[in-house]
Parts: sequence; structure tokens; C-alpha cells
Amino acid sequence: MSDRIDGLRDALEASPGNTTIRLILAEALRDGGEAAEAISHYEILLAAGGLTPVDAVAVAHFSLDHGRLDVARGCLESARERGEIDGITEADARLAAAMAAITRTGPAVESDAPGDPFDHLAAGQLGPGSVPAAELLREESVRFADVGGLEDLKKVLHRLIVMPYVRPDLYAKYGRRAGGGVMLYGPPGCGKTLIARAIAGECGLPFFPIRIEDVVSEYFGASERNLADIFEQARANAPCVVFIDEMDAIAYKRHRAGGDSARRLTNVLLQQLDGVGSDTTDMLVVGASNAPWDVDSALSRPGRFERRVFVPPPDDDARRAIVETLLHGIHADASGATALAARTDFYSGADLRAVVDRAAEYAIEHALDTGDDQPIGTSELLGAAAEVRPTTLDWLRRARDFLEFADSDEWDDVRTFLKKRPIRKRL
Ligand SMILES: Nc1ncnc2c1ncn2[C@@H]1O[C@H](COP(=O)(O)OP(=O)(O)OP(=O)(O)O)[C@@H](O)[C@H]1O
Ligand SMILES: [Mg+2]
Repeated sequence: MSDRIDGLRDALEASPGNTTIRLILAEALRDGGEAAEAISHYEILLAAGGLTPVDAVAVAHFSLDHGRLDVARGCLESARERGEIDGITEADARLAAAMAAITRTGPAVESDAPGDPFDHLAAGQLGPGSVPAAELLREESVRFADVGGLEDLKKVLHRLIVMPYVRPDLYAKYGRRAGGGVMLYGPPGCGKTLIARAIAGECGLPFFPIRIEDVVSEYFGASERNLADIFEQARANAPCVVFIDEMDAIAYKRHRAGGDSARRLTNVLLQQLDGVGSDTTDMLVVGASNAPWDVDSALSRPGRFERRVFVPPPDDDARRAIVETLLHGIHADASGATALAARTDFYSGADLRAVVDRAAEYAIEHALDTGDDQPIGTSELLGAAAEVRPTTLDWLRRARDFLEFADSDEWDDVRTFLKKRPIRKRL
């Protein structure tokens, strides 16, 4: 049995896009009692559209058997979208019961909480994506120390959000109250999500991410309901840090003029945010966006996302820290981190990951050719860096073009950054 699984694993490694092999492997793993690994393959198949509706319902049941409610929910949504009915009601009921069980054992759900946050599940109106229910209850473990470099940024966030939460007494004494969200913005892959998690970690709170795919649905009125439901769940799990990723997509500026469902979605978000301020429950709200200029300006009013914080491409120290983390635990010579950091201005954390991956491929090739399995060294890292283009430049160029015509001082952090680290000669 395990020979067969190993063979399938090898075949899949040689051809990762082959959904048939992946499906066969997932089934073999399932039958062989390797549920977690099987489910991880089912997840990939689901995302790639490689599960038939009938399979999806079966996988939903299997995922429920093993506590993976997020996967079950995604499978059911996919099956429903494609018209499957057999077995769906039963799976929905199981999912709703499992989710209700989680909330009951979770942190204090107030008895007078308005309505049951999982009503929509029982009624079979699942939104797309996955509810991060299992993640809710865990305190976030990422801390500021895990975010490399960016010392000024960490200091600002510590003052803006962490201290008001940790020492409300001190702030009250001077007539300052906590509240109001922060929006992190900047080029992709530079640590917005990581920093949001670290904020939760520093406050000793669980992290509650809201992703666009959890919210937006093609069905009439469903997106607004999803968003309200998700906030309801967050409230039931307070205190927590609610993280709204891709704010520009949820609250796109021009939506408000349109009078369509997207405008209603922005309005729901505004209502929910205004509710946060008046709530007795502790919810810290952190947003993130790669296109902050597209975010509806109503969101930046007091009590909402009044503070916008630029998360720049990592500086030298940050890049070294990122590379050190990436090299940790793999066969590599750690001294390469400093050399690589010095040569990768404007590379994002995600770009650096691509560089290290490429360098690992070189080392593997070399080992296969010569039988000599040397650690990844500076030369592999620098060679790989020459092949990976930094992705933050496109963003910075777009920002520069936008700022040329923007007369507000809202984006001064970006202006200052561009002045200090001009990009013109690189483009
Ligand atoms: N300063 C940093 N220190 C350590 N790791 C970092 C840092 N910046 C980025 N990374 C790493 O780079 C990767 C991308 O970071 P992250 O997902 O937080 O970026 P993001 O700004 O949220 O990107 P996106 O806009 O695409 O959502 C992650 O693996 C993260 O751990
Ligand atoms: Mg992110």
C-alpha cells in the first residue's frame, strides 16, 4: 500500500498539475488512514476545480469526520454551485452542528447576542470560501520579533494599537481612548498580513482574518449577508483582532456612486465598523490594501480606519531577517543571508522566497549531477536573485504616478520613501 502511495507521490511531484494523479493519491491516502494529507490534496483539487460535485459532497463528509470544517464548507459551496443536491442537506446540518459546537466551547458568547451567528449555515445559505472557525480560538503566536527590520513601523503600531489595548488605564487617565482601526497599505508581499498577525500576537489575542473570498458572492444580497455574518462571528469571539484583507475590493471607492450591490457592501462594512466603536466587546480592526487610493474615503473617518500606515518594501535588516528565516532548517549556509540582503533592494518578502526556492533548485541540480550535496551558498543565492525580478517596483511606479496628481498630504509616507529610495533609474 505505502509503495503505491510513494509511487503516486513521486508521479505527482513530477507533474503537480495533474489532477487525476492527485485525486488517485488523495483516495489512496484516505483509504490508508492518512486523513490530513488526503485532505490537503482534496483542498488543492477543490481550488483547481478538480472535484466533481458528487466527489465534493463525499469530501465534505470526510472533512467533517476529521474536523476540517473549512474544507467541508468549500466543498459544499462548490457542489451547490454546480447543482448537486444529493446529500447536501445532511452535510449542511452536520457542518452547522460542528460549527455551533465550536462556538459553544469558544470564549464567552454573550447570551443576549443578537441572533444565532450560524443561522445562515443551518438554513443552507453558505457563503463562499471558508470560515476560519478553527483558527479563531487560538491566540496568535506571531510577534513583532518575527517581523524582520521595519523598526519604526513596529514602534508606531505599538503606540497606536498595542499599548491602548494593553494599558487602557493609562490612556483613559489622559483622556485618550482606544478605538479606530488601522489600515496597512503598500506593495504586495511586504508583510502586511504578517504584521497584522503580529499585532494580534502582541496583544495576546486571536487573529480573525476576513478575506474577500469569504465575503463576495454572485448571489443577490449574499455578500452583504456574508460580511455581516462574519462580523457577528468575530463579535461572538471577541476579544480578537479582525483583519480585513483587500479592503479596496470590499469598499471600492467608485461603488458608492454606482448604487449597486457593491455599494451596499461598503455600507454594511461602515455600519459594522461603527458598531465596533460602540461595542463593549474588544475588537481591534486592522485593514490591508495594495490599492489604498481606491478605498472609499468614508472608511477613513474618525472611529473607522483613521490611521493609514505604509508598509514599505523591506529594508536591508528586514531582508536579512527574512532570508535567515527562509534558510533556517534547510541545507544552507546562513552567511549567504547578508550577501543576498545587500543585493536585493526593492525585493519583497515574497520575492525573496522565490529567490531562495530558485537557489535550492540549483543546489539540487548540482547534487543530482555530481553527487555532491553542498549547502546552498552565496553564489547560488546571488545567481538566483539575478533571475527573479523585484515585484515592488511596479507598485512603486504606480504610486509615483498617482501621487503626481494627488494634492492631498495623505500619502506623505510614500512620498518620503520615494524621495529616499528613488526608483526612476531602475525602470
Ligand atoms: N519584514 C518581514 N519579516 C519577515 N518576513 C516577512 C517580512 N515581510 C514579508 N515577509 C514574508 O514574506 C511573505 C509575504 O508577506 P505577507 O503575506 O505578510 O505580505 P502582504 O503584504 O500581506 O502581501 P499581499 O499584499 O500579497 O497580501 C510572508 O511569507 C512573510 O512571512
Ligand atoms: Mg496579505
